[in-house]
Amino acid sequence: MRRALLASLLAVVTVGLATAQPPPAPKRVDAPNLAPYVPTPQDVVDRMLALARVSKTDVVIDLGCGDGRIPITAAKKYGARGIGVDIDPQRIAEANANARKEGVSGLVTFKLEDALTTDVSSATVVTTYLLTASNLKLRPVLTRTLKPGTRIVAHNFGFGDWTPEKVDTFTDSGNHRRTLYLWTADGIVRP
Ligand SMILES: C[S@@+](CC[C@H](N)C(=O)[O-])C[C@H]1O[C@@H](n2cnc3c(N)ncnc32)[C@H](O)[C@@H]1O
Repeated sequence: MRRALLASLLAVVTVGLATAQPPPAPKRVDAPNLAPYVPTPQDVVDRMLALARVSKTDVVIDLGCGDGRIPITAAKKYGARGIGVDIDPQRIAEANANARKEGVSGLVTFKLEDALTTDVSSATVVTTYLLTASNLKLRPVLTRTLKPGTRIVAHNFGFGDWTPEKVDTFTDSGNHRRTLYLWTADGIVRP
């Protein structure tokens, strides 16, 4: 009797294990595609963070973070906290793996979210490498949410008629011309 009970329990467990499915892979977020994946070269990342004068007290949010190199560099080089947001689960997986490899998992967080709806209120620095039309969609979100004093650094693509307070144009290590733009949020909501 006891043996029969054990055998049937074993059968239930075996069938259960055989039919257990791995959890479904996270899906790409259904949101506007703000830019294709093109990583910023490392020397340009370094220059973006220098332009924003990033320090240990900063929270750096990269909207469309790709493999996470901007928040990861901010954490590794300056001890800042970093947040990266991307709609592509493959990028988020790469970013988390890179953070582990660089030993900064405790300082950075990567979120599978839409840059247009993610919460940017904790940022003291926002970085973008998105198309100008996408930056224009972000403008009302940023001006509504960012604390005054938060720096915004954009790589190659500006924010329409916002006049940058600094522009840094240079040739990178791969011999490509790059332009970086800096603004500081002033708390005034603009379209
Ligand atoms: C040009 S890459 C920049 C990657 C990274 N910021 C860098 O500079 O190396 C743009 C990234 O934005 C992501 N992206 C596109 N649309 C997005 C959206 N609506 N919300 C969040 N990320 C988005 C893409 O998946 C891609 O990884």
